[in-house]
Amino acid sequence: MGNARWWAAVAEQIGHLSRRLIAVDDRTGTVLVHSGPPYMAESSYVEFENQVALVTGAAGSIGKGIAGRLVEEGAKVFITDLKQESLDAICAEVGEACQSLAADVTDHGQVKKVVEAATAAFGGRIDVLVNVAGTVGDGGKIENIEEGTWDFVFDVNCKGTFLFIKEVVPIMKRNGGGSVVNFSSKSGKTGSALMAPYSAAKAAIIGLTQALAFELAGDKIRVNCVCPGITEATGVWSNVSSNYVKTMNLPIEEVVRKFTAKVPLGRLARIDDVVNMTCYLASARADYMTGQAINITGGREMH
Ligand SMILES: NC(=O)c1ccc[n+]([C@@H]2O[C@H](COP(=O)([O-])OP(=O)(O)OC[C@H]3O[C@@H](n4cnc5c(N)ncnc54)[C@H](O)[C@@H]3O)[C@@H](O)[C@H]2O)c1
Repeated sequence: MGNARWWAAVAEQIGHLSRRLIAVDDRTGTVLVHSGPPYMAESSYVEFENQVALVTGAAGSIGKGIAGRLVEEGAKVFITDLKQESLDAICAEVGEACQSLAADVTDHGQVKKVVEAATAAFGGRIDVLVNVAGTVGDGGKIENIEEGTWDFVFDVNCKGTFLFIKEVVPIMKRNGGGSVVNFSSKSGKTGSALMAPYSAAKAAIIGLTQALAFELAGDKIRVNCVCPGITEATGVWSNVSSNYVKTMNLPIEEVVRKFTAKVPLGRLARIDDVVNMTCYLASARADYMTGQAINITGGREMH
């Protein structure tokens, strides 16, 4: 580790001259080298070498992208979602760095089994936990929202996130630290009309993230969350847009146009935009960040 630090210091000096970025992972001692200038979107980091990540909601649009990127960047990844056949197909695509077990994130017994299987699969450690699993539920006017919808949306988004953190934190503590990234939303910063349960649940995720950032900082566990805006080609956007088609009585093209018009950068988010920020927060590059709720909204949300 001492050696790695010395090399990082030398490399940092060279890095200043060559406009390269150099960092060192405190826990593993891995020296991370970025081959391009800081403003380049593409990265050749092997950020997650020797690390194990657990990703929930990994058969979904964004979760699958995150699991794939973590493997590309050197991690072993354990993935979970509702259906084992979807997970098997992803593992077959990714190879032996990926293992899986299906579970419902709202069921504590099933969550425990996933965490046990993940620790058994990859040498007893979990360095990164990404809580992607989430749902919008049925949207609509508050007087029409069923009590069951409220409970369902809170259970999947909040209770599921809580249960995974509860089970993974003791493992991170034992191994000297880790990084948790939770999924909030633009709707968690400024609530979205006709999506009250989702907005409230995603705001709760920010509260949970901040409380745990304070609580776990002394254990070298960082806890952050991402707040994406509408992300094209995803499951959640497909639900949200069909809810809006019904409640606003507009064709889908008009719904898309309305939402895009609100974004200063003039387009909806892409899955890669969300994957980039999530993996950044999970990595040693974000070593000085905890308790943050980062907007990925093309400038639509600024606080
Ligand atoms: N797509 C967007 O526009 C957008 C915007 C802001 C925030 N988000 C958040 O990003 C995350 C991913 O969104 P996405 O668009 O990829 O959604 P998605 O629907 O494609 O994926 C979500 C995954 O979570 C899984 N899941 C749902 N309930 C579960 C349960 N009880 N147990 C286990 N797994 C369960 C689903 O099976 C699915 O594979 C969600 O938390 C969502 O709220 C998405």
